[in-house]
Amino acid sequence: MSKILIIGACGQIGTELVLTLREKFGNQSVIAADVRDTCPEIVANGPYQKMDILDREAVRGFIIEEKIDQVYLLAALLSATAEKNPAFAWELNMEGLFTILDLAKEGHLKRIFWPSSIAVFGPATPKVLTPQKTIMEPSTVYGISKLAGENWCAYYHSKYGVDVRSIRYPGLISYKSLPGGGTTDYAVDIFYKAKEGKEFTCFLSENTALPMMFMDDAIRATLELMEVEESKVKVRTAYNIAGCSFTPKELSDEIQKVIPGFKINYSPDYRQAIADSWPDSIDDSVAKKDWGWSSKVDLPQLVAIMLQNVTIPV
Ligand code: NAD
Ligand code: SER
Repeated sequence: MSKILIIGACGQIGTELVLTLREKFGNQSVIAADVRDTCPEIVANGPYQKMDILDREAVRGFIIEEKIDQVYLLAALLSATAEKNPAFAWELNMEGLFTILDLAKEGHLKRIFWPSSIAVFGPATPKVLTPQKTIMEPSTVYGISKLAGENWCAYYHSKYGVDVRSIRYPGLISYKSLPGGGTTDYAVDIFYKAKEGKEFTCFLSENTALPMMFMDDAIRATLELMEVEESKVKVRTAYNIAGCSFTPKELSDEIQKVIPGFKINYSPDYRQAIADSWPDSIDDSVAKKDWGWSSKVDLPQLVAIMLQNVTIPV
């Protein structure tokens, strides 16, 4: 039985990933860790460790002492926050990855999951159905750190046999936890305003198409990739996966089918340039071929699930 550590467990993905892994492997086998003092949803049903991924020796000590054999490393600054503090974003997004890769290289870890992003692509990348292998040239510090991280993962795999696996997540849409400073966050925020009966001001322009995905699909993809036999994992940078792509206008039109009075207006800010540098849609045929990936939730389903489940904080 594996002993699993999730670092960055209190964020948008971590909150749901911890709960799913605990359901599958048992509460005591899945340790959640984050720089935050606590996160109630996660502490309620299993072990929690306050941990700063930048404290290399403390992280090493904990993983070796606790005999952890799998790590999901989620701690990072996302695209919008990273543009405001590029030097720190580079440090946080890269240093932690080296700490974990080195532990695997030394034989302390059997398997690592480290997420990449559609942000690895840039303005010169083909925008529609962006292929697995293509021109990259990201223009954000976040994208640069993710592309460098992907290449380091491939390097540690080919040089040292480290079993590190990665996915280029699209923008993730969830109702159990809030997003943490990305360019795709509007597509979560919009549901809170719609549910409150309020107008929504979007920080992207109406026709900005971006690849998105419902969180359940993303969590399922993560577990499927982590469980597939090693020989099937042919891409050791990161896999493209696709959910549904849409613009703010298409999303608000879909919401208006359920809430006819819902209004949206547009006030693009610095995040528009980030979104403009990313693909409109993703070709995930390589993930489909290698490990049988397939998304389940389309835009109408995503809107229905979100409107049904988003709860307004009191
Ligand atoms: P998030 O911002 O919601 O969560 C990140 C978590 O990391 C937070 O709980 C934060 O407290 C924690 N953290 C920050 N600094 C830390 C440190 N020094 N030590 C330990 N923990 C620290 O992010 P997320 O959306 O859950 O994303 C997780 C990963 O997935 C990131 O690598 C992100 O780049 C990637 N990703 C996310 C999306 C998305 O749409 N959410 C898309 C593509 C890729
Ligand atoms: N959702 C993420 C962001 O916008 C994509 O990696 O930063």
